Amino acid sequence: MKILVINGPNLNMLGAREKEVYGERTLADINAEVAAFAAANGMDTEFFQSNCEGELCEAVQQSVSRYKADGIVLNAGAYTHYSHALGDALACVRIPKVEVHISNVHAREEFRHVSVLARNCSGVICGFGADSYKLACLAIKNILTK
Ligand code: DQA
Repeated sequence: MKILVINGPNLNMLGAREKEVYGERTLADINAEVAAFAAANGMDTEFFQSNCEGELCEAVQQSVSRYKADGIVLNAGAYTHYSHALGDALACVRIPKVEVHISNVHAREEFRHVSVLARNCSGVICGFGADSYKLACLAIKNILTK
């Protein structure tokens, strides 16, 4: 079972960016932790990050063909709140998809309360820091092994 973990804009700045919101760890730190957790739970992982909306759409489109993924964990950053293109890309792919956020977006500014991706995902996990990614991997495993 393979999970494609996709991170969107500004998540490459973790560790330097708004540490009081997103913590001290870099994206590389978090990816390593998620990969180890997933492996311990019988899942392979591959990681992709881009600041570009089109590249994120392509990663989602190619999740099955190129990445051979069985599920997608997606932190689309601010694109979550307005990218209908990314929402449509998710609708093209018929594998489990989980939207994640490091912060609790519902406890933050109002524009972050809206997701235009969630309707095309199996579910949403937010507010648990790096653990949001791990919980999403487990959620996908549960869907696929039910
Ligand atoms: C985020 C929340 C988004 O609102 C924000 O734009 C991000 C990160 C999170 O992981 O908490 O870039 O997706």
